Amino acid sequence: MSQNKSDPRDKLRGRSNVKDSPELIEFYEKLESKSATAFWRRANDIEPWEPITRYNPTLWRYQDLRDLVLRSAELVKPEEAGRRVIVLMNDSDAGREHTACVGWLFSGLQVMKPGEITPAHKHTASAQRFIMEGGGAYTVVDGHQVTLNKNDYVLTPNGCWHDHGVFEDGDISIWQDGLDIPLMNSLETNFYSVYPEVAQVPKYNIDDSPMTYGAPGLIPADREPWDKPYSPLLVYRWKDTKEALYNLSKAGSGSPFDGYILRYSNPVTGGWAMKTMGAHMQMLKPGQHTKAHRHTGNVMYNCAGGVGYSIIGGREFHWQEHDIFCVPSWVWHEHVNTSGSDEAFLYSFNDFPVMESLSLYQEESMSENKGHQKLAG
Ligand SMILES: [Fe+2]
Ligand SMILES: [Fe+2]
Repeated sequence: MSQNKSDPRDKLRGRSNVKDSPELIEFYEKLESKSATAFWRRANDIEPWEPITRYNPTLWRYQDLRDLVLRSAELVKPEEAGRRVIVLMNDSDAGREHTACVGWLFSGLQVMKPGEITPAHKHTASAQRFIMEGGGAYTVVDGHQVTLNKNDYVLTPNGCWHDHGVFEDGDISIWQDGLDIPLMNSLETNFYSVYPEVAQVPKYNIDDSPMTYGAPGLIPADREPWDKPYSPLLVYRWKDTKEALYNLSKAGSGSPFDGYILRYSNPVTGGWAMKTMGAHMQMLKPGQHTKAHRHTGNVMYNCAGGVGYSIIGGREFHWQEHDIFCVPSWVWHEHVNTSGSDEAFLYSFNDFPVMESLSLYQEESMSENKGHQKLAG
């Protein structure tokens, strides 16, 4: 999407409206030769009236990608690839330089076969995983080993040593990774290190993180307060998340824009689980059609169950289990569960913590057409 050059507001005082002349063109060429330019030539483009995303709403169908992801596990050895990840690219020219799927977010589908490991390393970029397929997988984060199962949400906070694997008796595993690599590279602050050994030796009892911090509203009282800038809870179990959503649906009417939605939060602070990226799980009741809103910040969704569609920027994107789609910043969106009998679940991750910490988060609800978008074309 590009800025509308004929916006009538651009005629207002304070906006750039300079016509070219032979003298000016010669002046501009002189500036260019000195590695300079005139601000008024670019001002209207770089200071739009409102955010104009360069990204398109994009749908990645799991049935299109699954076989290709599995094929990568046959073609490339994990020790050669480091990580076998098929990267999700936006349906536009935007973000190619930083391999972004939308905004400052990176996402890919990682595959591991039973007995395989991803060698231990760390980086400035933060990472989170949504387990799409497979039981018997694990991650080790700074010595904490955590077992993983379908629809679990998992943290790899920035700067933590991490390696992953699937136990010999586990299943082939496919995860959706979400990282802030494009943001870290734009800030030119991304470091990467390799661990001295192929894998970490776990320093704590297996699953000590969820067993210590996984009980709702309960924090261990016999130790120093947790002071790291990320959640001590490294995995959020699907069983607990689903139960919490059903309980929430019995407690009230939910969000008009998102149905019943829960944030994966740091149990110590109640804030986001990591500094740069956040995540949600939401539930749409059978037949529910939410109202449209738009906000700053970018969101990647993964259907954790059910069937439906989302209207994004006036276009319908139909989804079923493990289809992935994105909503770029300041684009209208609403969600529909098309089942008359079953709930639909949408996992999503976003860059809202960055928006909020910089006081850039804005949200608007659609007031016309009873709160719903008109379909484009
Ligand atoms: Fe990593
Ligand atoms: Fe939204």
